[in-house]
Amino acid sequence: MDFLELVKQRRSCRAFTAESLTEEQLQLILTAAQLAPSACNIQPLQLHLLRGERLEAARKCAWLYNCQAAVLVCTLDDKAWVRKHDGENFALADAAIAVDHMALAAASIGVDSCIIGAIKLADLKQALNLPEGEHAQLILALGHADQSAEDKLKLHDKRRALSELVSD
Ligand SMILES: Cc1cc2nc3c(=O)[nH]c(=O)nc-3n(C[C@H](O)[C@H](O)[C@H](O)COP(=O)(O)O)c2cc1C
Repeated sequence: MDFLELVKQRRSCRAFTAESLTEEQLQLILTAAQLAPSACNIQPLQLHLLRGERLEAARKCAWLYNCQAAVLVCTLDDKAWVRKHDGENFALADAAIAVDHMALAAASIGVDSCIIGAIKLADLKQALNLPEGEHAQLILALGHADQSAEDKLKLHDKRRALSELVSD
């Protein structure tokens, strides 16, 4: 598929069917995160594939809609690249790129997703017993879109014009 077509095809899904994902689909999506660029190639991430009981536990701490699986992206902030002259830590940038890689990989195989940042961090840390040093950043909710459900947020088509977005 043409890359821009793939980018256009991906959209946030907030209502999923009961169809689960196959192991092959999950492996492809996770591989996209593995191959994502990161500052200095440090790869300061820990991914948690959430299914079954752990997914149910996570649902209590983040609005994951009725997704069938999810990938929690944690950063290892102590390991991430820090820009020397101003101390900027790039862990969140690395996490965001990995999440977007996974969302696009999912779209490429007909799997729908939604990036979730609205997470109760302390609750999630406790519910999943996350180790010290892991900072939960984003969750990618995964499944197949329920085409009969209305997208109540209707955010997808609101794009700033390129002429406004880009200065030259
Ligand atoms: C960092 C980040 C956090 C987000 N958090 C949430 C969230 O918590 N809940 C949600 O429903 N959508 C969330 N979204 C999805 C955005 O609302 C969505 O990407 C945006 O409205 C554009 O729509 P589109 O993804 O369909 O193109 C998040 C997206 C990003 C990039």
